[in-house]
Amino acid sequence: MSRIAYVNGQYVPHGSAQIHVEDRGYQFADSVYEVCLVVDGKFWDIDGHLARLRRSLSELDIEMPMPESALRIIMENVRKRNHLKSALIYMQVSRGVAPRNHLFAKGLVPSVVMTAKRFDLDQSDEKAAKGISIVSQPDIRWGRTDIKTTGLLANAMAKNAAHEVGAAEALLVRDGFVTECSSSNAWIITKDGVLVTHPKDHKILGGITRATAFECAQELQLSVIERPFTLNEVFAAREVFLTSASSIVMPVVTVNGRQIGDGAPGPITIRLREAYKAKARAL
Ligand code: PDD
Repeated sequence: MSRIAYVNGQYVPHGSAQIHVEDRGYQFADSVYEVCLVVDGKFWDIDGHLARLRRSLSELDIEMPMPESALRIIMENVRKRNHLKSALIYMQVSRGVAPRNHLFAKGLVPSVVMTAKRFDLDQSDEKAAKGISIVSQPDIRWGRTDIKTTGLLANAMAKNAAHEVGAAEALLVRDGFVTECSSSNAWIITKDGVLVTHPKDHKILGGITRATAFECAQELQLSVIERPFTLNEVFAAREVFLTSASSIVMPVVTVNGRQIGDGAPGPITIRLREAYKAKARAL
């Protein structure tokens, strides 16, 4: 069965979906994106994703391409046309097409692309049961990583460097503090059982999974603090985990080859992952 993509008003076969060579997303990474989950036919955390999309666009002075209600309808159509009940929807909005020039031309029509692929809340269970290994990398990204732009080269370089040494993710460190990972937010659980994650500022992407994991932690009566932490605190942590739409809550068992806790996924992380899944399924 062929996959279907949405491109600027049309549903087209995925393999022949195209955008213009002078699309500013292609030439300047002048575009933003969202990766949203559909769980059993229901959009999960959709308000958060659309609010973040709106914010990313507004920070770059790009118009919302259409009302949120229309975006929701297209997302739903893309899911259905791909015959998926649970899915990961990728949505990208660029400033539009214009002759190449660094200056933002006025009145451009934003380009909108959506694709869908299979997703299941349990698909990362096997990985989560073992836990993943990660390595630190310098955070060489620009100063507005809170905007979810498609300018992901530094993220991709960090992830590839991690992959080359057999690690699943890169833990990014800037000015002596951990910011986040190449495509996920980073958390530690201290010896006192306190969950710590970097504050939501210009140095990290404010993950939607991060926000929901925060809520789950509070419902489990765990204490959570938002503050920067160092690599030494990571090594000394009781547990370490990552959050993102695709991996949800993912236990980390080694960092730079050093074992975290007893080297197995930690009990608090496992509880949080289960609580997160239960919340998504209860929608
Ligand atoms: N990545 N930090 C970065 C740098 C990310 O790219 C992502 C998401 C996150 C987690 O955000 P969320 O919980 O909203 O997925 C944090 C997506 C999944 C991606 O690029 O594919």
